[in-house]
This record gives sequence, C-alpha cells and structure tokens, in this order.
Amino acid sequence: MRDTRMTSSTRAVPENDLNRQLRSAKSQLALYAKDLKELLTREQGKSRTLESTNRQLQAYARDLKAAWQAQEQKTRELEKAYADTVVRLTLASRYKDDETGAHIRRVSHYSKTLALVVGLDEDDAQLIFDAAPMHDVGKVGIPDMIMQKRGPLDEREWAVVKQHPVFGANLLAGSPSLLLETAREIAFTHHERWDGSGYPRGLRGEAIPLGGRLVMLGDTYDALRSRRPYKPALSHEETCRIMLDGNDRTQPRHFDPALLEAFREMHREFDRIFSDIREAPDVPDANGEGWGRT
Ligand SMILES: [Fe+2]
Ligand SMILES: [Fe+2]
Repeated sequence: MRDTRMTSSTRAVPENDLNRQLRSAKSQLALYAKDLKELLTREQGKSRTLESTNRQLQAYARDLKAAWQAQEQKTRELEKAYADTVVRLTLASRYKDDETGAHIRRVSHYSKTLALVVGLDEDDAQLIFDAAPMHDVGKVGIPDMIMQKRGPLDEREWAVVKQHPVFGANLLAGSPSLLLETAREIAFTHHERWDGSGYPRGLRGEAIPLGGRLVMLGDTYDALRSRRPYKPALSHEETCRIMLDGNDRTQPRHFDPALLEAFREMHREFDRIFSDIREAPDVPDANGEGWGRT
C-alpha cells in the first residue's frame, strides 16, 4: 500500500515558507553564479597573462637565438682570423727553418689520426690537427748563424736551439683563442719525453699535455723518415723498429705508452700519410742541406 504521509506533510508546508525557501535558494544560486563568474573572470585574466608571458618568452627566445647566432658567426670569423694568423706564423717560421710544408702537414695528420685512435672526439682531434703546424714556430727566435749552420752544432748552440719551445710558447701566449692556446701548449711541450728526459722543462708522464705527446710522436716518426744533413731517410720498417725497440737517440720510454701501443697497431696509417703527402713544390731545398733539426 502506498505511503501518503510525505505527500500529506508537503502539502502541509505553508505557501509563505515555500516561497521563503525558494527565494533563499535563488539568492544562494545567484551568489554561486556571481562567485563562478568572478572565478571565470579571474581565470580568463590569468590565461590572458599566461598567453602574454608566453608570447614575451617566445620573443626573448627569438632574440636570444638571433644574438647567439650572431655571436657564433663572430666567433667563427674570429677563429678563422686566428687560423689565418697561424698559417702566417707558420710561414714566417719556415723562412728561418727549412722545415717543409709537407712535414708540417704530415705532423698534423699523424697527430689527428693517433688522437682519434686513442679516443679523442672529432672536435678535439681537429683542434690538435689545426694547432700542430705551429709546433716549431719558436725557431724564429733562434739566430740564423745557428739555424743555418752546416755541420754539427756545439753545446752552446744546442742550448740555444733547445729554447725554441719557450720562444714559441711566448709568441703564442695570452690569446683568448682555444686554437692558439692549444698551439702554445703544443709548441711548449713537443720536445718533452714521457720519461722526463726531454726539454725545455723535463716534464714527465701526464704532466705533458696530450697535444704535446701526440705531436712529439708524429714529429719523431717524420724526422726519422726524412733525410737530414746528419742522417739518411729511413724506411717505414726501420723507423718503427727504432721507435718500438729504441736506438742510441730514440727510446720507447720517450713516448706515452698508450700512444706507442696505438702506434704499434696502426703504424701503416703513418706510412700511408708519409707516402701521400710529399714535398710541396715550394720547398726551397734541392739538395737536402739546411733541413730543420727537430
Ligand atoms: Fe717538426
Ligand atoms: Fe721542435
């Protein structure tokens, strides 16, 4: 049976009370609506602010990107100018020392190839490639009477020749260019030896910067393969034997063991570089006299 009590009780609410309840609910709803509208307005305001901030940020990002690209362009131009300086300095040093252009290019190639084999990345290996040509630039500071002397040097003259890494380092010092700083490091240390018996500072082991160790190995290989006033050109096999087993002037302990091990594995690459890069046509030396002492 249907319960009619509720119906009877609703019917019992007086009309005035009902109206009051309705009015109260209506005003409550109006308040909610007002709150909601305010909330919506605030959110829309926030959203507009966010959009405007976003647009500003995008504009800043575009400006920054443009500034960064302009800076990059300037840096590239500056590095190009430095590289140009390097070429000119290298040319200047060749007036003093008949070190050939081919020798200089080969030393760059040996150093980069070996650098890649021992794990340097392409950029670092390329930096060494670009900086290596200046390894003997300090020879411009050595008097002609010593540089161009025929026959053996005496002790005092050798002492002067052994200053060329210091002259080179001084010549290249103080530049903000990474290229010239690397070149300075290499010029200063390319006659240091792993066992501490090199010059000018007698540095030992890893105290010698890697660039110096790489160039020293390539420079030694190339010097052995090349004719000098005091020695004939040696074959690749004889050169490897000397570097890996030693003779009266060159010993395996002079080289960074990791580099010498890498050289043992890829020495044929050195031979290929030596054969591929022959003397440039501008080499003044026709009879092998006056070639540089490394
Ligand atoms: Fe050299
Ligand atoms: Fe040198």
